[in-house]
Amino acid sequence: MSTQLYTFIRMIRTGWILARHDALVPSEYASSVPILARILGLISRIFTLRNLSINPGERLALALEKLGPAYIKFGQILSTRGDMLDPVFVEGLSRLKDKVPPFSMKAAEDIIFKEWGVKWQDKLSHFSQPIAAASIAQVHKATLLSGEVVAIKILRPNIHKRMRNDMDVLHMVAGMAESLIPSSRRLGPKKFVETADRAVMLELDLRLEASAASELSEPSKETGLFNVPKIYWNHGSKNILVTEWIEGTAVSDKKILEKDRFNQKEIAKKVMQSFLACSFDYGVFHADMHEGNMIIDSDEQLWLVDFGILGRLAPAEQRFHAEILYGFLMRDYTRIAEVHFEAGYVPKNHSIEDFASALRSVGEPIFGQTAENVAMTKVLLQLFEITEIFDMQMQPQLIMLQKTMMQTEGVCRRLDPEFDMWEISRPIVEKSMQRELGPQGHINDLLRGLNKARRTLEILPDATKDIAALAKAWSKGEIDLTKNKMNIDKSPSYHSWKTMAILSSTIVVVMSGIWLVG
Ligand SMILES: Nc1ncnc2c1ncn2[C@@H]1O[C@H](COP(=O)(O)OP(=O)(O)O)[C@@H](O)[C@H]1O
Ligand SMILES: [Mg+2]
Repeated sequence: MSTQLYTFIRMIRTGWILARHDALVPSEYASSVPILARILGLISRIFTLRNLSINPGERLALALEKLGPAYIKFGQILSTRGDMLDPVFVEGLSRLKDKVPPFSMKAAEDIIFKEWGVKWQDKLSHFSQPIAAASIAQVHKATLLSGEVVAIKILRPNIHKRMRNDMDVLHMVAGMAESLIPSSRRLGPKKFVETADRAVMLELDLRLEASAASELSEPSKETGLFNVPKIYWNHGSKNILVTEWIEGTAVSDKKILEKDRFNQKEIAKKVMQSFLACSFDYGVFHADMHEGNMIIDSDEQLWLVDFGILGRLAPAEQRFHAEILYGFLMRDYTRIAEVHFEAGYVPKNHSIEDFASALRSVGEPIFGQTAENVAMTKVLLQLFEITEIFDMQMQPQLIMLQKTMMQTEGVCRRLDPEFDMWEISRPIVEKSMQRELGPQGHINDLLRGLNKARRTLEILPDATKDIAALAKAWSKGEIDLTKNKMNIDKSPSYHSWKTMAILSSTIVVVMSGIWLVG
């Protein structure tokens, strides 16, 4: 049978499970979909199970948990799109659990043998039962022959094939949706599935997780706010990740809330400041900041694990976000509005003043209120609503950053109900702004300018040749300067003028850099 047919059959199964959970065309949204989809929804509800949740997002979450790992991942990614989906739906969907029974010890041992080429006993003195299992991988505790205790993360057997099959179904569904329901194109289902596909496939290579961990070890060392377990590269592969074992209490553990054992305020502060320092100062952040991925050791040091998803911000985006937070801290709404316009995120046909005043309506109620009453989360959600009115195109990296910030704030507020996001973020944001706008920022701008100049200088030898050719052509009378036009072919003298123009603009850039630093 052809692969297409297999995918089609799998799609029918997916449709069936969704229908059983009234998640194919949830009754709540039936009135807002085209007639064809409405009829499909009506038929599908004949098969719907009784006593289901009244939250459509939660019903979809249940169905996705039944459908398997790719669907779980897809749902997790979907639940981050608070900007385009009904908040009630997103709330329900975010309860999607990633708990699945572990696979057998035999299967784990087989994978180790396949990857290492030797039995685990040849490299380990101890290999535990799985201590955690999720849809993609499970983790064992082990001891190397040298005595070092390690965590071994192993991908599920056949996970690549299963993921590929499930993803093929999702691609087929998205393709059908776009051709059968033209109005669905606005939400870009095909593009969304492509993004989810790429994200999931990246998580299926543990060597990438290892390099993500080592990327975060630089901010870890420099800021001293958090730690990253050491990676045992020579024991790792696509299917296995070996890291230093961190002895401690997971932040998801109830013990962490015991007042006589841990200082919850300090932990919350470290969690938030680590996240902000990474994103604003280093442009790279752990994008799955939930309690299960944080461990507190006996010195109350924070350790992060699970680097499957890494967020990245280009320098301009780091600055953009730091400026927004700084603007809110300083209550400078005009500045925040300007930043949005400068970055080109808000179309020019809107007025800066109107945008600033809408931002004021979000920011002002925050001041003079206690921290318990004002969650950053709410502020960001209001910000999303405003950006929608002003046709703002949200960038995927920024959505990821905001989603992770909300997630991190949630963790902090559970640890410390009086957690004040604004006070905690102030030192990091101020430092970042000083760096961007103070002398260091100017030096960075200058360095960027110098880099452009260097590239221009590299083409200078060619330019010199061009100028010589130009002079020769002129002396031979091939160029008539009085006519303001050259009667020789465009190369090479034409290029020499272009080079001169680049060179002079570079000099202007460098001069302005020096002037700014001065
Ligand atoms: N280096 C480590 N030291 C101690 N425990 C770890 C370590 N790495 C993972 N764990 C434990 O295993 C769990 C699952 O690992 P994780 O990398 O988060 O996998 P998943 O991607 O399946 O969530 C973590 O929540 C943590 O409790
Ligand atoms: Mg995890």
